[in-house]
Amino acid sequence: MENIDWGSLPFGYLKTDFNVRSVYKNGKWSKLEVSSSEYIDIHIAATGLHYGQEAFEGLKAYMGKDGKIRLFRWEENAKRMLGSAEGVKMAQVSAEMFREALLKVIQLNKKFVPPYGSGATLYIRPLLYGSGAEVGVKPASEYTFIVFVTPVGPYFKDGVKPVNMMICRDFDRAAPLGTGIYKVGGNYAASMRAIMAAHTAGYSNTIFLDAKEKKYIDECGPANFFGIKNNTYVTPKSESILNSITNMSLIEIAQSLGMKTERRQVSVEELGTFEETGACGTAAVISPIAKIVDPEKNKIYEYCKDGKPGAETMKLYKKLTAIQCGDEPDTFGWITIVE
Ligand code: PLP
Ligand code: COI
Repeated sequence: MENIDWGSLPFGYLKTDFNVRSVYKNGKWSKLEVSSSEYIDIHIAATGLHYGQEAFEGLKAYMGKDGKIRLFRWEENAKRMLGSAEGVKMAQVSAEMFREALLKVIQLNKKFVPPYGSGATLYIRPLLYGSGAEVGVKPASEYTFIVFVTPVGPYFKDGVKPVNMMICRDFDRAAPLGTGIYKVGGNYAASMRAIMAAHTAGYSNTIFLDAKEKKYIDECGPANFFGIKNNTYVTPKSESILNSITNMSLIEIAQSLGMKTERRQVSVEELGTFEETGACGTAAVISPIAKIVDPEKNKIYEYCKDGKPGAETMKLYKKLTAIQCGDEPDTFGWITIVE
């Protein structure tokens, strides 16, 4: 696409040519349909609109130096969407249907896959929602599954430039036995007040603490948290965070690079002991954290004092992104080539 400036794309929506859709009615999914419309016709009483009966996913397609388009661990996104569907009692999208939709929507929008080395990628957004009408609070009997794509630049401005984060004690994103482990819209609605408070105060995003005790780190806005110290990659274990596929992958990469890894509760005080910290996710990739501010406790935790990302963080970043775009062999078996 000669008129897209790939290098300066924001993480935002850009119209592409096609999306794919399927409707679940009378107990079965329709054949996948291709649409060129960016709009949906939706019932005014759809449960997705009123009661947040919806879930979504986020993954990326990467253009390699060899001109091949790569998908990263789509099976994990398919699995997570099955979990989210069960979490808010929706019809299930099988891994096979998920795969078919991904491959089709990418093939149809090939020209929107950003070139190798541009820093941009094709973001893929599967969406599932209750499209059947109900007024009482109960699961719909009809569902719609849509997958659209859009080329995106980095989620946090300036790519791997370290960002500042603010700890939020005023608002919770998810309760311990709530829906925090699912990728459902309600969690993101619940996170808006904290994100806006962080933005208004001049921070990139917010760090949520566990809702029950406010003692432990949960996650960083739409990304998981990790800290590194003594050659160990540490990341929170919590019942209210999304199980990040990027984080799962970084744990394996860290081990392959000879680091130890720990998935356990991480107390707020422990922030003072890390050599490096970061946020990780599909959109965020790895965003190194320069500073974490805890306004209520009058505390500031600082990393990368020279303004540069830490060496261990960069090692992980380089390995992950090299696998994703095919610069390094896929020794973990994470890549699917889109033919
Ligand atoms: N946490 C939240 C709340 C998210 O929305 C995301 C994004 O999907 C992540 C973490 C990172 O997950 P993943 O690495 O699977 O994209
Ligand atoms: C992702 O990392 O893929 C996300 O979905 C994060 C956010 C844009 C919701």
